[in-house]
Amino acid sequence: MRSYVWHPYTQMKEWPDFDVIVKGRGMWLEDSKGNLLLDGVASMWCNVWGHSKDELVKTMILQAQRLQHSSLFNLTNDKAEELAAKLVRLAPNMHKVFYSDDGSTAMEISAKMALQYWYNNGQKRRTKFVTLEGGYHGDTIGAMSLGYVSSFFSQYKSALFSAIRVPSPNRYRVPSGFTFEEFQDYCLERIEKIFVQNDNIAAFVMESGAQIAGGVTIYPHGFQKKISTLCKKYDVLFILDEIATGFGRLGSMIEYQNQESIPDIVSFGKMLTAGYLPLAVTLASKKVYDSFLGQYQEMKHFFHGHTFTGNPLACAIAITNLSLYKKYNIIARIKKNSFQLQRRVDEISKLNIVGDTRHKGMLMGIELVSNKVKKLPIHPEKNIQRRIFNEAKKHKIYLRTLGNIVMIVPPLAISSEELDFLVDGTIDAIKNVAARL
Ligand SMILES: Cc1ncc(COP(=O)(O)O)c(C=O)c1O
Repeated sequence: MRSYVWHPYTQMKEWPDFDVIVKGRGMWLEDSKGNLLLDGVASMWCNVWGHSKDELVKTMILQAQRLQHSSLFNLTNDKAEELAAKLVRLAPNMHKVFYSDDGSTAMEISAKMALQYWYNNGQKRRTKFVTLEGGYHGDTIGAMSLGYVSSFFSQYKSALFSAIRVPSPNRYRVPSGFTFEEFQDYCLERIEKIFVQNDNIAAFVMESGAQIAGGVTIYPHGFQKKISTLCKKYDVLFILDEIATGFGRLGSMIEYQNQESIPDIVSFGKMLTAGYLPLAVTLASKKVYDSFLGQYQEMKHFFHGHTFTGNPLACAIAITNLSLYKKYNIIARIKKNSFQLQRRVDEISKLNIVGDTRHKGMLMGIELVSNKVKKLPIHPEKNIQRRIFNEAKKHKIYLRTLGNIVMIVPPLAISSEELDFLVDGTIDAIKNVAARL
């Protein structure tokens, strides 16, 4: 079959064809030839319950029969209202919900909100963002500017706005001359210095709990809280990106709460609809929201909106999804699954091309290296990503690597048998790839 699809992050020349997924059932994907693959990446980190979950499918059908889309421009809809109320109840310190379609756009919205907050407050010079190195916030121009990963984005640098970047505390790659604790303190001191020396800072932006796409850096205890405190001390807006880490991925419903931090603006996406429809949200505190209020002619209102902003079909799915979190006590299940993953860390770390295994909740990153002592990365010519994908497929699992990091990011509700199947297959795939490198 001739394909006209251009795939994301893919050297199309090397992929003459792709397995065509035609069905999903539970944790499994089925291709057009009837082969089954366990979804080890939760369909890009968003699937919660597996595929074709009854309650979600029923919601989708019922809502499509009632109202599939209606705009939030000059109108509202019952599902957007109900979901926003639920989210505000769930997310401490948050007051209003702004809807969008994907994580990148939610982060664009965060940045625009922060800029306009200062503009509306008469502090127009406050336009600069401070971020962590290795942060990732999506693929649109603004999101790439905030979360600049050089291996992904150097081609687009000329179009990006500059941000001030501070090192992030990666335990595996601590610069020489530092202990890990000293390095964390150094990162925090750098942030404070930037806040003291610059009067044009609009906001500090970071992923909540862990950086994922930029290298699976799980923050040490207290790190995020200290940044939150510094932002309050120096009156800098604190923007969190919980798109990949909220709603259970790291083991808590609201990760920033678990981190004892208080954002002014926070975004969620991915698991918000359990991976069934595209929807993202940017939540703002009362302080931020109030700065947008005034007379029409003052032009303080937020100049942002999309065709599908507040789409009732997606909102209805999210409402049902959140009710299932309670009904099935998914957070308890994640805790159990997380222990199960943790028990395998030593075994994985002993594999001869594994440099480091980082794990929290239902996220595991396995960093592959060509030399364990020198921590040297595997050269791109080895095309490790393709090799791992192919080997994993032989073990009936769908795995994706980010650079040299094999990601285990399954649907949150995966059973313990399926989780073992996934980890066993991953270990075998890594061993087989290592044997042929
Ligand atoms: C932390 C984080 N922020 C933003 C995004 C962008 O989300 P989307 O792919 O839905 O645009 C991602 C995607 O992986 C992410 O991991």
